[in-house]
Formats: sequence, C-alpha cells, structure tokens
Amino acid sequence: MNNTRLNSISVVGGAFGDEGKGKVVDEICHTLIKRFDKVIVYRWNGGSNAGHTVEVQNKKFVLHQIPSGALIEGATCILGKGMVIHPGDLVFELATIRDNSEIKTDIIVDEMTPLSLDTHRAFELSLKKKEEGGAGSTGRGISPAYADVIYRHPLRARDLLAKNWKEKFEKHYLLYRSLISGLGDDLAKTQVNSLSEGTQEVGNKTKFINKISGQRDRIGKYIKNVYNLVKENWNSKVPFVFEGAQGVGLDLRWGVYPDVTASDPTPSGIFSSTEGLVNPETIEIRANVYKATYTSSVGKRVLPTKMNEKLAARIREDANEYGATTKRPRDIYHLDLPALSFFSKVSMATHMVLTHLDISYPDTPVKVCTKYVNKKGQRLDYRPDQEFLNHALPVYESFKPWDGSKIKNSTNINCLSLSAKKYIKFLSQTLNLLPLMLTTGPKRESVINSNYLLF
Ligand code: IMP
Repeated sequence: MNNTRLNSISVVGGAFGDEGKGKVVDEICHTLIKRFDKVIVYRWNGGSNAGHTVEVQNKKFVLHQIPSGALIEGATCILGKGMVIHPGDLVFELATIRDNSEIKTDIIVDEMTPLSLDTHRAFELSLKKKEEGGAGSTGRGISPAYADVIYRHPLRARDLLAKNWKEKFEKHYLLYRSLISGLGDDLAKTQVNSLSEGTQEVGNKTKFINKISGQRDRIGKYIKNVYNLVKENWNSKVPFVFEGAQGVGLDLRWGVYPDVTASDPTPSGIFSSTEGLVNPETIEIRANVYKATYTSSVGKRVLPTKMNEKLAARIREDANEYGATTKRPRDIYHLDLPALSFFSKVSMATHMVLTHLDISYPDTPVKVCTKYVNKKGQRLDYRPDQEFLNHALPVYESFKPWDGSKIKNSTNINCLSLSAKKYIKFLSQTLNLLPLMLTTGPKRESVINSNYLLF
C-alpha cells in the first residue's frame, strides 16, 4: 500500500544550518499557492535561534520564529508544538510583517508550544560562565526552555491566556531567580538579547510581569488549539510545507557535541509536534538542503575537511557567510560527503536542494571529500564525535569548476555548463537523492526550475 500524502514536502537543513532554507521554502510555497490557492506552512522545531531573510517587493524581512510562508498571501503558518516561542520576539516579528506589508496570512501558534523567556536567556548566560557546553549557543535561551519540558515545569503558550497567568509567570520568575542566584548572578540585572530592544536587563519581577502582560495582549489572538486544523487539512488535499530550522548536523543525537541544539531538526520531529497526525514517512518529498560546493559551520566543531583560509575567506565574502542571528563569521570547509550522507540517512531524505551554485571559480577546482580513512588507509564512516573526527583523514576528488559569476541569479537549467551538470549528477548519485531545486544567488527569484527539477 502506498501511504504517500501527495503535495506534502518537508525542507530541512542537510548540514549544520544556514543552508538557505528560507528562500527554498518561500519559493516552494509560491509554486504551490499558484496551483492550489492555499498552502499550510508548518514549523516544528527551534525558536529565535533560527534566522532567515525573505525579500518581498524589494523589502527584506528577517524572520526568526515565524515561517517563511508568512509573506505569501493565502498561506496559513503554524508555529508547532515542537518549537519554543519567545513572546517578546514574536510581538516584534508580527509587527514587522504587519506594519510593512499588506499581505494577508493566517499565523497560528499551537497553544501547547513551550515558551522561551528572558529568564531562560539569563540562565543560559550564567551557565555559560560556569560550563563550556553551551559556549556556542545563540543566547536565545533555547536549551533551558526545552529543559523545562524535561523537568516537567514548562510554561506553554496557552499559559499566557490562563486566568491565573500572573501567578504562573511569577512562580517561574522566582524559580529562575533562585537558579541564577545559585550560580552567583542576579536575574534582574542580567542583560539578555531581544529582537525589539537589543540587549537589555531582565528587570525585577514586576517589570518581567508587566512585559509579559503587554505581550499577551498582542499575541493572545494568535494562540490556538491547532489539532483539528492540522488533522482536517492533512486529510484533505491542501498542500503542506514543513519548514525545519537549524540542520541535521545540529541535532542533539546526530550532531557533534557540544555544538548541538535542543530541538529535533529532522522530519521525525514533525511526528511528535503534530501529536502523531503527520507521519513523516508519508511526506511525499523530504528534501535536505545543502550548499553545493562547500560546507559551513559555526561553533567549536572542527571537520576533517579544512579548506585553506584564502579560499575560505573568498567564499565567506562572496556568499556572505556571517550568522543571520549572531553575525558570527562561519567556518568554511570543503564539501564533506561522509557527513552529508550520514545526515541524509538519519533524516530519511528523498531529495536534495543545492544552494549557492554560483560559488565556483573558474581557476579553482571544486574539491570534495568523498570518504574518510584512518592512518592505515582503511575506510571510516562519519560519526558524530569530535574525538573521532580529529583522527579521520579526508580523501578528496576534484571536479572541473564552472564560472559562478556567469550563472549568478540565473533561473534556467540550460545556463549551467556541462561541468556543473556533471557535478550535480555526481552528488545526486553519491547521496542517493533526487535533485529538486537549485539556487544561484541570494534573490528570491534566483532559483532553477522550482517545478521540481529532475534530471
Ligand atoms: P542554541 O540553539 O542557541 O542552543 O545553540 C546550540 C548550537 O546550535 C550552537 O552551536 C549554535 O551555533 C547552533 N545553532 C543554533 N541555531 C542555529 C542556526 O540557525 N544556524 C546555525 N547554527 C545554529
């Protein structure tokens, strides 16, 4: 029996995040909405730690928690239970969208979604001073918010609407004040990030409660029970786009410690976020997004595929490889196929999207790591363990480059040279994934064959 749910697609980062998923999701949604007039965009993981830029009518929108589809007329965007939501950042994002565009979309936050608050951001900062585990974190309080779920005392979006909301949030504040004071810091005086006001003090309990009070007035109407909405639409023919945040290489189980995030960036997170309504194995297309000619990474992790710094710096500037949320310069590596194959396997991918195809220089062969070996030359699999990676030796294959500047922003497959096509075919065969889409530049239109490229 074929259980595939037609017109459903999930898009996840195939490496360590920052692959350019936002634009890919945006383009897929536009294609689908032209055919169906309606699309549901569902995000299931992460929170304000993600960041993607969407360009609409020459205006740039940087979104963190709200999925890319929020700028597409007719889309319904669901912020699912598997995410963690910062209400203050959400107020800011909603205002940015509503004040700067006429676009009408439905944005709904699952009432069950846990909250990530300034208290979590402050706690993460205090922990960071004591422990190096969270050293590379984005400072958005993501892992403490998920830890609250494991400790069985999370605040959820629906607590903002509860009659006794004040009592709940006061209790939460006092708990975190004690935890942070135990680590030798003062919660009220801790400076934390916020999208609206830059860095600012958390403040005392009264200030904290007053802030939450303002936020609940602004976002209360977006918080709903989404169970029936997801169920009814999933059982109909309405297209679904599942938008992942971060990347498989940042997964707690599949990533390299300690540069891992707390949520599930793989499609398996969709199963739990939708309370079992959507079995990811029935999603028609499960696409992993990769940078075509290199792999980027932020944090302490070191991959075996180090690139010489001259080429890395060139790529960093040409592809603007600086964090969207943190502005940190990203490390640039040669494409690491042992890692990407591993990520593709554990995330059950069926298709690949290659971004940044314009990053290729006619004078520089595209060097790809096709396998790891040990000192004796014996083949090694990729394993998500820094100790292991420190001893794995990369084996490279070089491919004839193409002139990236000539294909920048092109939208036609025929613009690609034979060498680019051969390279794409090689990746498709090695990763055992069908090519779905290619991107050739930062603009929204810089996409080749969004109608599901196959060749
Ligand atoms: P957290 O998600 O803020 O807890 O950070 C944990 C790890 O995930 C750190 O190494 C971050 O740099 C990384 N991380 C989280 N979100 C992103 C992202 O959107 N792109 C790239 N790295 C990320």
